[in-house]
Amino acid sequence: MAELVTTAAKLDAWRATIPGKRVAFVPTMGALHEGHIRLVERAAEIADAVVVSIFVNPTQFGKGEDFERYPRTLENDLALLGDLADVVYAPSVEDVYPPDDPPVVTSAGPAGAGFEGASRPGHFDGMLTVVNRLFDIVRPDVAVFGQKDAQQVFLVKRLAAERGSPEIDVVRTVREDDGLARSSRNRYLSAEDRAAAVAVPAAVWAVARDIEAGVSAALASGRAVLASQPLARLDYLELVSPTDFTPVGEDFHGVATLVVAARFGNTRLLDTETITVP
Ligand code: PAF
Repeated sequence: MAELVTTAAKLDAWRATIPGKRVAFVPTMGALHEGHIRLVERAAEIADAVVVSIFVNPTQFGKGEDFERYPRTLENDLALLGDLADVVYAPSVEDVYPPDDPPVVTSAGPAGAGFEGASRPGHFDGMLTVVNRLFDIVRPDVAVFGQKDAQQVFLVKRLAAERGSPEIDVVRTVREDDGLARSSRNRYLSAEDRAAAVAVPAAVWAVARDIEAGVSAALASGRAVLASQPLARLDYLELVSPTDFTPVGEDFHGVATLVVAARFGNTRLLDTETITVP
């Protein structure tokens, strides 16, 4: 079983027992599922020791978002992790944000304003602030993130480049048998919405299939898939440049990132895929 520590001081003490070891870090908000386990397995492959954090970060939730409702399942999470991780850091809000040591608020800037940032104002500032703080506490050599949250990955890579550490390792999205990307939020879907949600990966596949016809045609195909599903409300479906996360035009050639968000009931689902535009 992984060692459970609840304070940065105890994590420091553990850190001092493994001098010279390469440490991989998987930050999470708990409610772990197979997708997280893949990240932890990857972390174990690329380092000598693995730290997983479980912290529902209040600063990345906006007013009326699901902070209170966010599942807190520490016992299940620990059982699921087994001994895949060496340490689980599950701190209190005060441990991460001590009142006498306010965090450096990290701004996501324009790259955090569109897409997820547009429907969740301030979300990426809060996410970067906690990730920066957790990097300071854990001091990992490498941190592992899931590809599904493409905008988060883009912003965290930029943060790590600015700080000069850690390395960022990105793990491909884990999907259910019907293609739906694994997410803690899938559990909020009604049975009807869950069945309809297969339209999200279907839209991704439609873009990949039709990209030969050009950016606009491929995006139109993807959007049409979601438009034909009455339970889906499309938020965005765009191809963005991996260098600045802005939408690419018809003249773009090379590797782009497809980002999709759609609502089913009150649940927002995200998906992403790397698409080569010929
Ligand atoms: O992706 C998440 O679960 C969160 O945004 C993260 C990276 C753990 C920061 O709270």
